[in-house]
Amino acid sequence: MGSLVRSATLRALRNGGPSFSGIAIRRSSLSVGAFSATMSPPSKAVVYEQQGPPDVVTRVIELPPVEVKENDVCVRMLAAPINPSDINRIEGVYPVKPETPAIGGYEGVGEVYSVGSAVKGLSPGDLVIPSPPSFGTWQTYIVKDQSVWYKINKDSPMEYAATITVNPLTALRMLEDFINLNSGDAIVQNGATSIVGQCVIQIAKDRGVHSVNIIRDRPGSGEAKEKLKKLGADEVFTESQLEVKNVKGFLANIPEPALGFNCVGGNAASLVLKFLRQGGTMVTYGGMSKKPITISTSSFIFKDLSLRGFWLQKWLREDKAKECRRMIDYLLDLAREGKLRYEMELVPFDSFRTALDKALGKQGSQPKQVIRF
Ligand SMILES: NC(=O)c1ccc[n+]([C@@H]2O[C@H](COP(=O)([O-])OP(=O)(O)OC[C@H]3O[C@@H](n4cnc5c(N)ncnc54)[C@H](OP(=O)(O)O)[C@@H]3O)[C@@H](O)[C@H]2O)c1
Repeated sequence: MGSLVRSATLRALRNGGPSFSGIAIRRSSLSVGAFSATMSPPSKAVVYEQQGPPDVVTRVIELPPVEVKENDVCVRMLAAPINPSDINRIEGVYPVKPETPAIGGYEGVGEVYSVGSAVKGLSPGDLVIPSPPSFGTWQTYIVKDQSVWYKINKDSPMEYAATITVNPLTALRMLEDFINLNSGDAIVQNGATSIVGQCVIQIAKDRGVHSVNIIRDRPGSGEAKEKLKKLGADEVFTESQLEVKNVKGFLANIPEPALGFNCVGGNAASLVLKFLRQGGTMVTYGGMSKKPITISTSSFIFKDLSLRGFWLQKWLREDKAKECRRMIDYLLDLAREGKLRYEMELVPFDSFRTALDKALGKQGSQPKQVIRF
């Protein structure tokens, strides 16, 4: 397997690296055209040799060509996002820890560059995503078995194709998997400016479901509210606006939500609970504030609320590959029709450091950073 050769190289790097550096120097004097059809071009990759703060432990290095075996497909990556879970994996605080040294990234989009002799259904030039997603998308060329790659419509906007799985699919599953939502119902969520939050608003609206949205107090929150309303949000509140005893008065003509989503934790989770109706359910899928959820005793006694959780990676493991690909087509169709939009900033690979700093929140609130290779 090509990936084994590459991980051997990464191991060499971990073990002191002189041989690795030697490879990099020799390789730089070759042109891509000089490689045979069964070898990939060299790949530029974001690697980390140990878990830790991403801005400290990652570096961009060149990896040598690897063999493209008969069932392998070599993909030239076009774009890949920096998601919170990518950061958590590098930090070592995610339940799944890739073996180090490792290459960052989990989803993305690329173009088929070359295929092994036994590959069927994929040809150079096809637009593909790893589906279900898999590790190591922050690199310019990836060689993996054909079964990893899913061919998507050539008209798919690149930045949406790169980001369609982790966040939009989470929004879709959470809207479908917990309670039966009908047109006219309502949901409530915090972290509404996140990509998941923006997708929840739009998919809900497309189905006639109202959304009540909570965002944090920060510079630019007024503008953020307007943007979410343009996407179809019925109501948007900052956390501080909701520090009142009875929030139900804010709902006007919207029914009390039966379903809530929490990706922040701390007090922002309590605000979701405040809106939920008797017997409602709150689904936690993220913890951006890194604070635990506190729940009033009365939420249990008088409202009999249910607390659930969602993790896409677990859902994907449940033999969902086929279903996942069908949903990707549905979500990409929505994106092509302009029914699913979210804010992103495409950043050239050379500016990876800046993109990483922004994704780490060092420059305040920023749109989703998508690396363009
Ligand atoms: N469980 C799963 O399977 C699953 C799948 C996908 C995503 N997620 C989780 O969903 C969440 C959103 O992911 P995303 O990629 O959609 O997010 P994103 O687009 O990268 O946006 C980050 C969001 O987090 C908010 N935020 C950042 N730091 C915060 C803090 N200290 N306190 C409160 N809010 C903060 C931001 O608010 P501002 O706009 O105010 O900066 C923004 O809404 C993350 O926690 C992610 O791990 C979970």
